Amino acid sequence: TYHVRLVVFGGGGVGKSAILKRFLLNTFSEKHSPTVEDLHYREFDLGTFILKVDFLDTAGDNQFPAMRRLSIANAQAFLLVYSVNSNGSFEELKKCFGEIREQRSDFPEIPLIIVGNKLDLAAGRREILKEDVAEWIFCEMSHMRVKVMECSARDNINVREVFKAFLQLSKIS
Ligand code: GTP
Ligand code: MG
Repeated sequence: TYHVRLVVFGGGGVGKSAILKRFLLNTFSEKHSPTVEDLHYREFDLGTFILKVDFLDTAGDNQFPAMRRLSIANAQAFLLVYSVNSNGSFEELKKCFGEIREQRSDFPEIPLIIVGNKLDLAAGRREILKEDVAEWIFCEMSHMRVKVMECSARDNINVREVFKAFLQLSKIS
């Protein structure tokens, strides 16, 4: 049995909660209710063992630095979310990345999934290219436990793949 905690970070309104909701409940809401902090728990039967996962959904506005430091300290993996139609959200993601790197001495070992959400809005409104995100991250760090993806919580595109990547990078599947 493995028990891991996946922490979801990113700017306000990028769809952190929506991605989790789509994955865990297969639902989507057009409404934005800002998160303070939500913990979801789920067990997965992976055949040879049970995987227990805590999904920690965080606040985008970063009003509680102490809470954030604790979340960073207690994570086994991170989902860093931006929105493909928002340059600003990618700048926010870079800040989150910097905080994690600063705080965790085991940084190169930590699975990191970088996700561009709202892929459904990409046509005509895209501000961030996946290729540019990949180039940025591979300049910042050379380790292998990182993956850059895009998804849409609204249209349920690639959401399962995001969590598959988490399992693969965690070497527990
Ligand atoms: P905070 O908790 O405030 O940090 O926001 P969040 O990152 O959890 O965002 P949330 O999931 O609450 O979604 C914010 C808004 O974006 C909501 O109105 C959602 O309906 C919308 N949204 C989320 N995912 C998508 C998506 O894939 N496509 C589109 N078009 N809208 C989305
Ligand atoms: Mg939220």
